Amino acid sequence: MNTLALVGAQWGDEGKGKIIDILAEKADMVVRAQGGNNAGHTVVTGGVTYKLHLVPSGILYPDTVCVIGNGTVVDPAVLLEELDDLSAKGIDCSRLKIDARAHVILPYHIVLDELSEDARGKADIGTTKKGIGPCYMDKAERIGIRMCDLIRPDVFREKLRRNVEIKNALITKMYGGTPVVYEEIAGKYAAYAERLAPYVCDTSVLVYEAILADKHVLFEGAQGALLDLDVGTYPYVTSSHPVSGGFCVGAGIGPTLIKDCLGIAKAYTTRVGKGPFPTELDNEIGERIRSVGAEYGATTGRPRRCGWLDAVILRFAVRVNGLTGIAMNKLDTLSGLDTVKICVAYNKNGVLIRDFPSDISELAECEPVYIELPGWQGDISGARSFDELPETARQYLRTVEKEIGCKIAMVGVGPDRDQNFDL
Ligand code: GDP
Ligand code: IMO
Ligand code: MG
Repeated sequence: MNTLALVGAQWGDEGKGKIIDILAEKADMVVRAQGGNNAGHTVVTGGVTYKLHLVPSGILYPDTVCVIGNGTVVDPAVLLEELDDLSAKGIDCSRLKIDARAHVILPYHIVLDELSEDARGKADIGTTKKGIGPCYMDKAERIGIRMCDLIRPDVFREKLRRNVEIKNALITKMYGGTPVVYEEIAGKYAAYAERLAPYVCDTSVLVYEAILADKHVLFEGAQGALLDLDVGTYPYVTSSHPVSGGFCVGAGIGPTLIKDCLGIAKAYTTRVGKGPFPTELDNEIGERIRSVGAEYGATTGRPRRCGWLDAVILRFAVRVNGLTGIAMNKLDTLSGLDTVKICVAYNKNGVLIRDFPSDISELAECEPVYIELPGWQGDISGARSFDELPETARQYLRTVEKEIGCKIAMVGVGPDRDQNFDL
């Protein structure tokens, strides 16, 4: 079996897009199985930067089949715009397949995402306001509209009419918002359906057959373990399952079909949106990491909160995903610091904690316990092997491995496809 799952090991934006793109060179198929256009995956190659939100990061290779699986939520307008942009850059998107069961994001989901966030006031989650949560809510409530409904005009109009009625009651009576207009949505989405219909099929069958034929299949995670609806920092999470188990449900395959699982991490920690973040650096070093690492969201442009690497988080990611290796990106961003810190445990009111707390109230009480190591100087973005790194950078990586109990398999020293090497 030739399958590999790639997951975010922190709070998202770990550089998954770059690693998928690198590994996709040898892949036959790349599969997205959860989330939607809340994701922003950056691929830099030959001086061109691609920001992919829904289309799997394998699309840049001419023969890779790209799958948007049943566990994803699809905003047709965003997807079509992304396909148009890629086509304008000369990329053939006919290899894209969208599962018939994937749920469709509708304008009322976006309106409700905004209204519910506003209504939460200071207790807001800091969502991307792309309608992700409300769309998954409809899925769980069993009133969602799926791709298979979208491409059947009669079914779509009937389901849409019923939902618009329910959602407008909520929008106007609960939030005092402006109702959405059924005819407007029906017209727009009919046009989207016509364009998207050729891509829609049962991707569970495609993925299964590819695996049986011993094709190389990559599963592309979106978000990260701490944003998982179940095991993440609830309620400051997304509404899907970014952990490796999410691939089974979201791609319609069984767990015995995933051979290895690579966790993607940064050499430090970032987060967009609200919620506790023990190693956050609300100081000059945090600012420096943000500016050197260009830590601004690929989807919303929001500044990312930055902090030291947290080994407690990475141990959690190793556990909940069953990681068989880690790809550590952005080692270059830490260059030039006199010393670097790694959080190895938390101190909660005098008690040492090594496992990530399940309750965020407890997390909020945790103080990081750091080890401090010497930093490294100079530009390391040209390094192409472990041996080319300064001794202190090597020491940093070895210490991380020891602390998290998982092998670092790849290191990233820059955003480009080429600025990466195996360990
Ligand atoms: P994703 O959502 O996990 O795919 O990550 P994003 O694309 O949202 O954010 C990662 C950012 O880091 C992007 O701007 C990448 O181009 C950039 N990046 C990835 N790996 C490296 C690296 O090793 N070094 C540097 N300097 N930038 C990197
Ligand atoms: P990629 O795939 C970082 C965060 C949002 C917010 C929370 C809920 O690029 O790593 P949502 O709109 O999903 O309901 O927002 O999740 N979030 C991400 N943070 N990277 C992402 O994706 C994210 N997708 C969602 O900022 O805190
Ligand atoms: Mg991102």
